[in-house]
Amino acid sequence: MDHRRWRTAALAALVAASTLIAPQAQAAEKPELALTPPMGFNNWNTTHCRNDFNEEMVKGIADIFVNKGLKDAGYEYVNIDDCWALPERGADGNLVPHPVRFPNGIKAVADYVHSKGLKFGIYTSAGTKTCNRDNGFPGGLNHEEQDAKLFASWGVDYLKYDNCNNQGVDAKLRYTKMRDALNATGRKIVFSLCEWGQNKPWEWAKDVGHLWRTTGDISDNWNSMVSIAKRNMVLHEYAGPGHWNDPDMLEVGNGGMTDLEYRSHFSLWSIMAAPLLIGSDLRKVTPETFDILNNREVIAVNQDKLGVQAKPIRAEGGMYVLVKPLSNGDKAVLLFNENDSAANISVTAQDLGLTQAGGYKVRDLWAKTTTHTAGSISAALPPHGSAMYRVSAAQDWYKYPPAITTAADGEVLYPGALPIVQPGKSVTYTTSVTNSGRLPIALVQATLNVPQGWTAKATSSTFKAILPGEKTFKTTWQVTVPPDAKEGRFPVGASFTYHSPHENNPVTRQYSTEALVPGAAPKGDLFVSDLKWLRSANGHGPVEVDKTNGEAKAGDGGLITIRGQVFTKGLGTHAPAHIEYYAGGACSKLTATIGIQDNKVNPLSLVTYEVWGDNKKVFDSGPVTGADAAKALEANVSGATVVRLVVTDGGNGKSYDHANWADLKITC
Ligand code: GLA
Repeated sequence: MDHRRWRTAALAALVAASTLIAPQAQAAEKPELALTPPMGFNNWNTTHCRNDFNEEMVKGIADIFVNKGLKDAGYEYVNIDDCWALPERGADGNLVPHPVRFPNGIKAVADYVHSKGLKFGIYTSAGTKTCNRDNGFPGGLNHEEQDAKLFASWGVDYLKYDNCNNQGVDAKLRYTKMRDALNATGRKIVFSLCEWGQNKPWEWAKDVGHLWRTTGDISDNWNSMVSIAKRNMVLHEYAGPGHWNDPDMLEVGNGGMTDLEYRSHFSLWSIMAAPLLIGSDLRKVTPETFDILNNREVIAVNQDKLGVQAKPIRAEGGMYVLVKPLSNGDKAVLLFNENDSAANISVTAQDLGLTQAGGYKVRDLWAKTTTHTAGSISAALPPHGSAMYRVSAAQDWYKYPPAITTAADGEVLYPGALPIVQPGKSVTYTTSVTNSGRLPIALVQATLNVPQGWTAKATSSTFKAILPGEKTFKTTWQVTVPPDAKEGRFPVGASFTYHSPHENNPVTRQYSTEALVPGAAPKGDLFVSDLKWLRSANGHGPVEVDKTNGEAKAGDGGLITIRGQVFTKGLGTHAPAHIEYYAGGACSKLTATIGIQDNKVNPLSLVTYEVWGDNKKVFDSGPVTGADAAKALEANVSGATVVRLVVTDGGNGKSYDHANWADLKITC
């Protein structure tokens, strides 16, 4: 062979070898899918294993996706969760669809979903059994290839792979094995790791799956949703096209939160570039639920092709600012108020990383209004409220009216508290009108509306002829409650009118907040569980009186038991929790026995207990685990108007955190 021919032959051999190697190298990678966060449906949050999880439901959801415009909005995957199979494999070793739920098998359902131009997803666990104790079925561990083949033969497009009964096998191994099995089928299947963030999948799963759960399960209540959002938001740098943080499926429409809270939930998930998997039975939800799930401008933020998860640039005192850069140079921003009281949050265009411009255009993605700002973006948010904007550096900012924020705030004892006013006494409120624009507004008038029999006296001017750009107009008010006022929470509302360029004048704005009139201060040596709380919030289900927390309904937890000792009095909480009591400055000492509930002890049980007197922390237990003996708590609450009991999740998430406050007593 002459030199040239040898070289050609050698090159050909090299090319052949490289094409031989290439497909193998590719086989170990996941398919390119989920370049924007997956959108769709999963039945778990609404049905769990109940009988209404069946073929009819899945088909019904697919129909609604098409008929109600959700498919057009981007919702694509119709996914089924645990309990779709029988508890035993068939003679051939294959999983067997539950014959009552899915009388025509799974393929028929997948075909139906596909016939609607949608995709179909399924569930199993990277363990010997799935998660549900009673209706669970055999998991995929050591059956990866067989199960993947079966799923592919049914036309599955998405697999959620859970973590229960994993027999202690290394997570990386378990999930990688299933990835390879899915790849080997040749079908493009989105691979969702449901490992609850236990092994920090964000650090290793980028090449394994398209999304990974970052937390334990969500439940349909405010505290649960918020605690999950907080854990997920700090992981922003790990998300990107094809590899997303998954803070669990949506609860929007399931009934445990208000629509305002669901808007916050949906806004948080959208800006965090989280998968948007609807978790409510769309056959039964309200028109308001559809309005939330179908907000195209919010969805556009979630689905932006840059694929960046919002960064929390502020997270203090229950007030958050999250910023997500968008592919056209705009910034999406979420101002979010976790607290039970109103909050004013503002941020500047500069903070968002927008370059200097004459002015900025601010699109309110929920109110559907466009205004301009000289640079400040702010919102007066009700308890649990949020505002979501798309902000652009714009040459034509002057075409839009100035952004105006109106608010009314009562004096409070600590950030996040309700304004408290005793019968016959007064409290100060401040109303404010902030013009964040460059152009002035005129004839600004503020009014404060109080319940009948109460008085609201302005102690400064209520009218401003001209309010220039970048200025705030404030009015202070003395609100007096009649001596015979009953205890309760009362509405305090502010109304504002002003004239603004480009708008139908006058513009009117309303703002509503509350004042709390307490009952008599407690007297004597009392069990706290016999007192009425002002407010309470709990990680799972309600705070329990004289019972331990049972996670779902009041009274479902049984007796408080700590290391074998049974208590008939006390409170049963689940982290994260807080409960507030009116003490009226009349109490001195709080005592309790604290510890994790016996039958809920788990390696993940970890909480801290805190007691606060108004704005001062008077007790901190430090970490309390399920292995710890019951601890005695004693806190000095002298002088406190409000005593607050707090349970934190100890920093490891809210799993198995059944925290008891046994024999909880207060001396007043
Ligand atoms: C686990 C998962 C949930 C759900 C259930 C089903 O708890 O985290 O999302 O799939 O299992 O049993």
